[in-house]
Order: sequence, then structure tokens, then C-alpha cells
Amino acid sequence: MSRGTILDLCYLVAAITFILALKGLSNPKGARSGNFIAMAGMALAIGATFFTPGLTHIALIVIAMVIGIVIGIPAARFVKMTAMPQLVAIFNGVGGGAAALVSITTFIGTNSKEEATYRVLEVLVGVFIGTVSFSGSAIAFIKLQELITGRPITYPGQQIVNALLAVAAIGLIIAVLVTASTSLLWVLLIVSFLIGIGVVLPIGGADVPVLISLLNSLTGLAVAASGFTLNNNLLIVAGTLVGASGLLLTQMMCKSIGRSLPNILFSAFGSNITATGGADGVEGRSVRTGSTDDIGVLLAYARKVAIIPGYGLAVAQAQHTVRELADELESRGVEVFYAIHPVAGRMPGHMNVLLAEANVPYDQLKEMDDANPEMATCDVALVVGANDTVNPSAKTSPGSPIFGMPIINAEDAEHVVFLKRSMRPGFAGVDNELLFYDKTVLLFGDAKDTLSKLVSAVNAS
Ligand code: TAP
Repeated sequence: MSRGTILDLCYLVAAITFILALKGLSNPKGARSGNFIAMAGMALAIGATFFTPGLTHIALIVIAMVIGIVIGIPAARFVKMTAMPQLVAIFNGVGGGAAALVSITTFIGTNSKEEATYRVLEVLVGVFIGTVSFSGSAIAFIKLQELITGRPITYPGQQIVNALLAVAAIGLIIAVLVTASTSLLWVLLIVSFLIGIGVVLPIGGADVPVLISLLNSLTGLAVAASGFTLNNNLLIVAGTLVGASGLLLTQMMCKSIGRSLPNILFSAFGSNITATGGADGVEGRSVRTGSTDDIGVLLAYARKVAIIPGYGLAVAQAQHTVRELADELESRGVEVFYAIHPVAGRMPGHMNVLLAEANVPYDQLKEMDDANPEMATCDVALVVGANDTVNPSAKTSPGSPIFGMPIINAEDAEHVVFLKRSMRPGFAGVDNELLFYDKTVLLFGDAKDTLSKLVSAVNAS
């Protein structure tokens, strides 16, 4: 068997592992093994690539890999769970940038106009999409890291500027293909870079994760284009898988927040978005607060309790303590389940990852659509650091920024208990009317502290 055939076989096996990995990643139970399968496939692919016939500059490749490892491993290991979206953004941007570089170097290496024209796919998809993904992801990172405001950044005539940039990019791609001019390719690179910035600036922080998912999909396409450039089948397969799964995730996230993709991408243009809600709206109104002992008794004597986790659970790192409380309740015969909103927290699957870390049994996790019909049968909805995802104004206030977003119907339970630190609103900055319902009780404090006091209170009941 020739070296090339062995390489292709290794790539085929790696491609299969990527598909199996995606299958595993599609549910919390299989996510861990899905990740390991993907890692094994990637290790095989990287190892096999060193046997590519005619491969040169091996020392440089190894040095680049070592630099990547030295930066990547600590970044991934020490990142806080709440900062994961930024990390995904930056990793994604680097992928897009790498794909663009591959296309550029290949194009510069072409010797004739005919060959440049033949390279249409790389120029179009590789340079353009890769660079848009790179600069767009960089702005998404800066926004999520709060280095600039997370609110939409708009200016008069923005739509026209962006449209002109898009027209310029199309014109440049055609010009590069016709003339094979390297100088025009650099101009295309700059214009693509500006498009990435121009598209992301007007998108508000809450929508940035949807955008990252879309950029991730674009990076996949750019990588697939690099695969064509380098005649590398595995890159084509892997890039296409990333492109398709990123697009599906984007679609699912749009559905979860009840918005269309064009609405997310273009709604801020020309509008003057200002903060809504906030602490002002709640001034002068009173809420009912409770003691841990009272709530402990309420929970201990309930038949069925729905725990609704949100971003505050991640901030407080209270996943182990919430499980302790659930275990304590279950040992007393209380039926407990977790109602998981698809955009609770700050990244897709945020709550699933946290609760999996605490080894919460998978059968206790219920997705929103399965949880909602059961809410009316619950004695208590225990809202742990969630706000927007249980805010009834998403159903009742057409002017609200979250109007149309499906929510977990906590208000259907007989009692609602909120664990939060203050009257501050959630991510969307919208006051939550549910805090003022007669059936609602608030327990102020850090979720981890409050939950551990509740464990003792239930224990003592
Ligand atoms: P949020 O609406 O953001 O509310 C979080 C709540 O947690 C706040 O009310 C906050 O109140 C409380 N909190 C914060 N730290 C806490 C702590 N240490 N202990 C106790 N409570 C604490 O959360 P959510 O319901 O999960 O909704 C998620 C929001 O983020 C949605 O608007 C969603 O669209 C958006 N978003 C989601 C994603 C994805 S993909 N999941 C990405 C970006 C944005 P206090 O400050 O008073 O404690």
C-alpha cells in the first residue's frame, strides 16, 4: 500500500470519528465521549499529516504546533465557565484567519492567470469568508470581554457603508480573478476585514452568541475551501461538518430566543437602542422576601419541585450545592427535576455542562418544551440565578426586548422562589414582573450560600 493510500485511509477514519463525535455531542449523555472521540480522530489526522508525501518545513510545523499548544492548553483549562463564549469566539477567529492565510499563500504561489482563475473557490471562500470570520470574531470577543460596550454600536449611514463594502468585495473578487493581481488581493483582504467589523458592531451582546455560531459556520466553510486548495480531503469533510453544524446551531439558537437571523443581524441598523428596564422600573414596589427556614419547610413538604437554573448558578458556581439540595429533597420523597432553558446562562448548553459537572442524573434534566407542560403540577418552582428565561414579559409585553422569546413557565407552579442577590435585572436589562407576583418569594444572597443554608433547613425540617 502506498503512503498516499495509508494517509487517505487515516483521513477516512478521522472523518468517521468526527461524524460520530457530532452525534455524541448532540446530547448531554454522549457529550463527554463525543469530545474524546473527536480528540482521538484529530490526533490521528494530525499524526497522519506528517506522512504526507513531499511534506517540507517539518521543523516549522512542529514549532507552530508547540506555540499553539502552549497558548491553547492553559487558555482552555483556566478559562472561567462564564468566559467560555469569549474563548470560543477567539478560537473560531483564529481558525478563520488561518484558512484565509492558506488561501492567500496558495494564490500568491500560483504562476499564471489561468491558474488564478481556477483558484476561484479559495479566493472567494477562503480569503473573503475566512477574513470576515476572523475580524468578526475578534470584535465579538472584545464585546463579550466587555472591552467595549456590549450594546449595538451604530452610526448614521452605517447600512450604506456596509452595503458599499459588500459591493466593493464582490467587485474585487471579480477583478482578482480576471487580473490575478496580488495587490488587489490585499485590498480584498482589507475590505473583508472591515466587513467583519461592520457586521458585528451593530449586534447587541445578547445576540453575540448567535453570531459566534454563525461565524463558526463560516469558518467551517473557509476551512473546507482550504481543503480544496491543499487537495486535503479531511479538511474538506471537517470544514463542511463545522459549516453545517454551525448553521444548525445558529438556527436552533434563533428559535430559542424567538428571533429570525435577519432580525438579529440587521435590527439595530439605524435604530437608537437604549437601555430598557433596569433597577429604575422596580423602585417603590415591594416584593415578598422569605427566610431560609420558611423556604426549607416549603421545599421539604412539597410533592414536586422544579429547579430552574440560570446564569447566576454559573456565577455562584453553585452546581454541586444545588445537586445536594435536590438529593436531600429526593431522599425525603420529593420529586425533583431541572427545567433547562436553551439560552439559560451565556452559551449554548451552559446549564447542561454545569449540572453534568455535578453529576446530576440526566433523567432529571428536562428541556423547556418537556418541562413547561409539567410546571402547573409543581408545588415549587425554585429559580436559581435565572431571570430573563422565566420573565413573563416575553409573552405579555410587545415592546420588551425579549418579547417573543419562549420562557420556562415558572409562574404556573403553585409557589415561585427566586434565589438572587438583588433586584437587578438579568442580561436583557428588563424588569421581571414575576418577582412581584403574590405567589413569589425572594431569598436574597449568593446562590451557593443560600442553597447550602437551604440544605440545612430542609434537613432540619
Ligand atoms: P439572566 O437573565 O442573565 O439573569 C441572571 C440572574 O442571576 C440575575 O437576575 C442575577 O441577579 C442573578 N445572579 C447573578 N449572580 C448571582 C449569584 N452569585 N447568586 C445568585 N444569583 C445571581 O440569566 P438567564 O435567565 O440564565 O438568562 C440568560 C440571558 O442571557 C438571556 O437573556 C439570554 O438571551 C442571554 N444570553 C444567553 C446566551 C446563551 S447562548 N445561553 C448567550 C448570551 C446571552 P442578581 O444580580 O440580583 O444576583
